Amino acid sequence: MAGVLLRRNSISSLFRSASAVTSASNGLRVIQVQSHSSEAAGKEKDAVMKTFSIYRWNPDDPENPKLKDYQINLNDCGPMVLDALIKIKSEIDPSLTFRRSCREGICGSCAMNMNGDNGLACLTKIDKSTRKKTDITPLPHMYVIKDLVVDMTNFYASYKSIEPWLKRKDPPPLPGKEVPQSKADRLKLDGMYECILCACCSSSCPSYWWNPESYLGPAALLHAHRWIADSRDQFTKERLDAIDDEFKLYRCHTIQSCTMACPKGLNPTAEIIKIKKLQEQKKSLG
Ligand code: SF4
Ligand code: SF4
Ligand code: FES
Repeated sequence: MAGVLLRRNSISSLFRSASAVTSASNGLRVIQVQSHSSEAAGKEKDAVMKTFSIYRWNPDDPENPKLKDYQINLNDCGPMVLDALIKIKSEIDPSLTFRRSCREGICGSCAMNMNGDNGLACLTKIDKSTRKKTDITPLPHMYVIKDLVVDMTNFYASYKSIEPWLKRKDPPPLPGKEVPQSKADRLKLDGMYECILCACCSSSCPSYWWNPESYLGPAALLHAHRWIADSRDQFTKERLDAIDDEFKLYRCHTIQSCTMACPKGLNPTAEIIKIKKLQEQKKSLG
């Protein structure tokens, strides 16, 4: 712990700290760090101090993993959890590691678990209650690379396996031009094309937890249906055949954790049910 504080204290003489070590109910050690700038000290009576308990894991540190508590002044912070993380990283502890890019729910990179729910840190408002900590941990059942950064390799491999691009047997009706699509057919892609591949759904799915290498998971299956449903694609049967598999598709037990976790309001469960119905229709047609 002394090493942690020494590193943090060496960042800048602007910051002062008080620390303590406790243990969390899940057995992880909790390191508490309260930090503020000397300039802000005069405004302390107006401060609304909130504690964020953040999962820390560094492959080079033998004292791992742990939850580390950080206190920040909500009156000097943006409204979203990502604002708090950025404030902690820039003002208290630059070693805190997380992904983010767009800050507006488009890139999907800030997916993490906040107070037990998967979501996007940039779209999740800070719970203003100062009596409760906000717990922030990586997406569940994913391998952790460092702190809140998880390994997305298997998730992307599942996505790649459904061949997420337009596949045609015929050339476009007009050589060198796009393949046209009616407005009605385009509308059939609503609820699927909006997916930002954040993995909140797949990492909330018990079937994906236990069979991540063989079950495609809700995100990849939603995208599979996005291409099956596309009127311009000419590989519908081949796409259905490719996932007509006890593990790839039928490990979904329609529990709907994925749908509840999606920060974009999509419904992977419904898309998986549609794929299963198409599989039945395919079999009945021989
Ligand atoms: S509905 Fe299917 S994909 Fe969604 S969480 Fe349940 S098992 Fe996973
Ligand atoms: S379906 Fe929703 S939760 Fe799943 S990857 Fe797409 S945007 Fe994220
Ligand atoms: S930073 Fe891009 S979705 Fe949150």
